Amino acid sequence: MAGQANFSSGIAAGQIMQDAKRFIRSNLPVAAVPGIAEIRLHKALPSSRLGRLARGDAKGFGSPYWAYHWAGGLALARHILDNPGLVVGKRVLDLGAGSGVVAIAAAKAGANSVTAAETDPYAVAALDLNLELNAVAADVIAADITDSEPPPVDLVLVGDLFYSEALATRVTRFLDRCADAGIAALIGDPWRAPLRLEQLEEQARYEVAESGSPVPVAAGVFAFRPRGARFP
Ligand SMILES: C[S@@+](CC[C@H](N)C(=O)[O-])C[C@H]1O[C@@H](n2cnc3c(N)ncnc32)[C@H](O)[C@@H]1O
Repeated sequence: MAGQANFSSGIAAGQIMQDAKRFIRSNLPVAAVPGIAEIRLHKALPSSRLGRLARGDAKGFGSPYWAYHWAGGLALARHILDNPGLVVGKRVLDLGAGSGVVAIAAAKAGANSVTAAETDPYAVAALDLNLELNAVAADVIAADITDSEPPPVDLVLVGDLFYSEALATRVTRFLDRCADAGIAALIGDPWRAPLRLEQLEEQARYEVAESGSPVPVAAGVFAFRPRGARFP
């Protein structure tokens, strides 16, 4: 069974979603994504004062990754929009969707359907708002599916999810099961340390504007190699 996101109960989940959406609408302005004019997202500024949202939910509020731009997702979204043939007509899963830049890019590029999996309830709130803002649809799974069998999709997209060893191991095992089921995967990542290069084949490189970096960040798009096709 898929692990659940950090919701303690259905009522709490509904309240968190409502409060989070209200906060995001009021405090995280909408702007075009740097280098991806096709997509607009709610993103944090210093004036957003995310700490106020965190103080209202001391236990449930994790790292607000959803409020910022990540190099891997920016590169993967740009790559999909520039190469729509990668997703046209396909059922696509965006694993670790965050604020949704990759899921939205896939939907805009012509994916047949988009599923977005995300464990942080605040990210799910931002994702819902950003899907609506960009006039695209996705089925949102608010759960950790990395221990589950792959859903019925043709392609998994992974934007910047190799930021810890433990998560890299979970994601790699999931992508191995996807490959066993004939499901391909594309990963966007700025060569973070836990990225397992021997499992990947580089497809493209981009210079992107990651939040917090004063200079452009290099990020790659990689195809995931099935177990039988890796370097030793
Ligand atoms: C660095 S952010 C990247 C978000 C987005 N893919 C992007 O590129 O903008 C990583 C996201 O993955 C989510 N995440 C972490 N572990 C996850 C898991 N096991 N399943 C689904 N989402 C996960 C986090 O909550 C966070 O929103």
